[in-house]
Amino acid sequence: MSSDFVFIPKAEVIAREAGARLREFYATGVTTEYKGAADLVTIADRTVEKLVLERLSAAFPEHGIYGEEGTRERLDGEFRWYVDPLDGTTNFAHSVPHFCISLGLEQRPAGLAENEDGALVAGVIYDPMRDEMYVTERGKGAWLNGKQIHASETGKLEESLIATGFPSQKRHKSPNIHFYHEFTLRSHGVRRLGSAALDLAYVAAGRYEAFWEFNLNPWDTAAGILLVEEAGGSVTDFSGQKVKLDSKEVLATNGKIQAELVALFEDMFAGRDFGTIVNPKDYVRGMS
Ligand code: IPD
Ligand code: CA
Ligand code: CA
Repeated sequence: MSSDFVFIPKAEVIAREAGARLREFYATGVTTEYKGAADLVTIADRTVEKLVLERLSAAFPEHGIYGEEGTRERLDGEFRWYVDPLDGTTNFAHSVPHFCISLGLEQRPAGLAENEDGALVAGVIYDPMRDEMYVTERGKGAWLNGKQIHASETGKLEESLIATGFPSQKRHKSPNIHFYHEFTLRSHGVRRLGSAALDLAYVAAGRYEAFWEFNLNPWDTAAGILLVEEAGGSVTDFSGQKVKLDSKEVLATNGKIQAELVALFEDMFAGRDFGTIVNPKDYVRGMS
């Protein structure tokens, strides 16, 4: 593990405590409430955000905090934590053990406009059910449970396992089902496991070659973007441009299949016919 981490030692302790709280709620079960038609929230989301707010404020009194469940503290400072206290709430509410805590730290130079991004400088993603702790700081690599991790070396989409997610709000307005369809047929498959932060962590760990999603928020992505970059991968928008925290499009890859995916996005957005995926006769022959 990098011994010159500045923020991680304290942030990791906080994420572990938050994870222990989530495990307790998971064991006892919680009542599901609705923020929207399919947008769930539970007492676990709110309780853990409050816990993280208290702990981060004690550990880093000058730092700002921007949390999914409404925390907006000290946002005029140099540092700002993006906090998702429970990424994967739908899994959690259905007793599916795939969710995490995500803490991403942005450093914002004085005078930066609110709609501009500073630099991501640290990130923690903790999966409390598998006890997997992903940590990173800028320039210091990406780490999983004390071992350095690297994005995969696979160079072709057709040899890749990739991932995506779907929004819980305005679902019918999301075009993602078309991309899901197309990329499923052109890869080893598209996983849709329900935690964007863990999806990004899996790209960093070389488990997935890529992950994309529309309409994510900074609390979903801040930690994971830095983790992927520090693991040697790349994160852009769908046209290959620098990703913005509120850009609403995230494409994270191992770097090796980045150009191929950007070209596919371009073709699909342009409505171009980019050829047959599989010859139906060959497909049927292959089944017999
Ligand atoms: C959700 C998860 C999911 C993604 C959704 C997010 P939440 O976050 O990351 O994978 O597809 O877009 O909203 O609501 O569980 O924190
Ligand atoms: Ca989330
Ligand atoms: Ca959440």
